Amino acid sequence: MSLVSMRQLLDEAAKGGYGVGAFNVNNMEQIQSIMEAARETKSPVIVQASRGARAYSQDRFLYHLMLAATEIYPEIPTVLHLDHGNSVETCKSAIDMGFTSVMMDGSLMPDGKTPSSFDYNVDATRRVVEMAHEKGITVEGEIGCLGGIEDGHGAGLDGLAHLTDPDQAVEFVEKTGLDALAIAIGTSHGAYKFTSKPTGATLKMDVLIKIHKRLPNVHLVMHGSSSVPKDLQDIINQYGGKLKPTWGVPVEEIQLGIRNGVRKINVDTDNRLAITGAIRKVFAEKPEEFDPRSYIKPAREAMKKVVALRMTQFGQAGHAGDYSPISLAEMAKHYGAQPVLV
Ligand code: G3H
Ligand code: 13P
Ligand code: ZN
Repeated sequence: MSLVSMRQLLDEAAKGGYGVGAFNVNNMEQIQSIMEAARETKSPVIVQASRGARAYSQDRFLYHLMLAATEIYPEIPTVLHLDHGNSVETCKSAIDMGFTSVMMDGSLMPDGKTPSSFDYNVDATRRVVEMAHEKGITVEGEIGCLGGIEDGHGAGLDGLAHLTDPDQAVEFVEKTGLDALAIAIGTSHGAYKFTSKPTGATLKMDVLIKIHKRLPNVHLVMHGSSSVPKDLQDIINQYGGKLKPTWGVPVEEIQLGIRNGVRKINVDTDNRLAITGAIRKVFAEKPEEFDPRSYIKPAREAMKKVVALRMTQFGQAGHAGDYSPISLAEMAKHYGAQPVLV
């Protein structure tokens, strides 16, 4: 099976009332972890790469690893998605490379730090939609800004500084014609999201529910959705790490989101924690080891466990065989029949 459009996966998820995890990758082992978890749980998957990941893997390594994934796991509908594209040009380069879905994050200026104007965001997102849909490729946009910074991306704001305004969300969707909408509800990227278990004052699920009521047919995306589990923090700290106490997004809140229109859930940090904990454990317990496989294999297994658990919790498990892929050419025809609204 070749790489498929994200729109199809999300439409199917909406029909089935489940969510699909979107997991970040930078290397072969992370791709292997996700694909093995997908096979074990029979899940469709979204594999995503940030600009940092594309630079780290020289872009083409990552793309060809993903082609290998489609050969080795032909039964798994697999999407290759650009995470947080910072400009129309970045999205174009991903489309040219063979990504089947792109995020145009016009909530920030191309520096990836400065919150943008609504008009800038509409213009950039709409241009990407026109370019991508012509090729059957999916587009995710974002309105409102997340907190935190990852690899230089992010305004470094408090998660509550730029929550999504539901009225603006409606106007944004109408003016851009996008496929999936990322919203800001108080989450941030990275491990330090909340200083105690989030409440309705810090994690604004009420805002998400309002947006879903206004846009019942739009696929919503939750970024910054790692749960930062205590057991993964503990393993790192037990073996010499120095994480400060922190809280992530509880899985029950994500499941509430899924019941209210969330179809894509972005998770990176939980996997980073799992990998780091597993490597630290080997280093601490077997200081004589120097074959990289001795610590990379347990790290790969630890990430696979986290991903498989999230796939089950988000409800995508068991759905890999529900549908046959629609080609990108077919998707393009479908978009051509429904031009972007102005
Ligand atoms: O956007 C957030 C993801 O965790 C990607 O992080 O930009 O450090 O690769 P990164
Ligand atoms: P986490 O840092 O919570 O894993 O979020 C990842 C993300 O939103 C990637 O776009
Ligand atoms: Zn994100």
